[in-house]
Amino acid sequence: MSEVNQKFDGVFVLDHPLIQHKLALLRDKNTNTKEFRELLSEVAMLMAYEVTRDLPLRPVDVETPIGTAHCQMIEGKKLALVPILRAGLGMVDGMTNLIPMAKIGHIGLYRDPKTLEPVEYYCKLPDDIENRDVILLDPMLATGGSAAAAVSFLKKRKIEHIKFVCLVAAPEGITRLHEDYPEIPIYCAGLDGGLNDHAYIVPGLGDAGDRLFGTK
Ligand code: PRP
Ligand code: URA
Repeated sequence: MSEVNQKFDGVFVLDHPLIQHKLALLRDKNTNTKEFRELLSEVAMLMAYEVTRDLPLRPVDVETPIGTAHCQMIEGKKLALVPILRAGLGMVDGMTNLIPMAKIGHIGLYRDPKTLEPVEYYCKLPDDIENRDVILLDPMLATGGSAAAAVSFLKKRKIEHIKFVCLVAAPEGITRLHEDYPEIPIYCAGLDGGLNDHAYIVPGLGDAGDRLFGTK
C-alpha cells in the first residue's frame, strides 16, 4: 500500500498486484455486467484486507490439540459497512466475506445530472452505529459531493472513525472530501488525472452504477 504523500495526505493507493490487475479489467469498456459485478466484489474483498490492516489486536491463549498457543485476536470497536447506493452495493459482498460480523447501513444518493449536486433518497443505519467504526463504500470519488454528503449523515450520528473506500478517485474529490473532513482516510485502487465536463473521472471506468446493474 503506498500513501500518496506528495500532494494528498491520508490517501492510500492499494497497489497490490491482484487489485491492480482486476482494476484494469474493471476499467475495460468490453467488460460486461456479470464480469464487472464479480470483479468489483473481488477487488472489494482484497481492499478489505488492506483497509483493516490497522485493527487493534489483543493477546489470547488458545488450546491446540498439542499445547497452548499465544495468539492474537481482533479487539476494539465493531465495524459497520455503509455503501452509498447504488454503486457502493457492489462492494458489500466482497467486504463481508472478510468481515462477516460487520453490520450494514445504507445511504441512498444520486448525483443530479444538471447541478452535479448529490440528492438524498434513503438513509438507514444500524441502531448502534455510534459504537462502531464505519467503512464507507463507493466505487467512484469524482467531485466528492456524494462522499461528503454521506459523511455528513454519519457525523450527525456522532461516529468518530470513518474510512472512505473507493475504486477510483479524482483529485477534485479527494480535495473536496479532505477540505470538509481532513481526518477521514481515503483508500483507492486508482488515482486518476481529473474530471471531464460532465464530472466523470478521466479515464475512470465510466458510470459505475450503470455498469454494475446493466442499466445502460
Ligand atoms: C456515482 C458514484 C458516486 C458518485 C460520485 O453515483 O457511485 O456515488 O456518482 O460522484 P461525485 O463524487 O461527483 O458525487 P451516481 O450519482 O451515478 O448514482 P448511482 O450509484 O445510483 O448510479
Ligand atoms: N460517477 C460514476 O459512476 N463515474 C464517474 O466517473 C463519476 C461519477
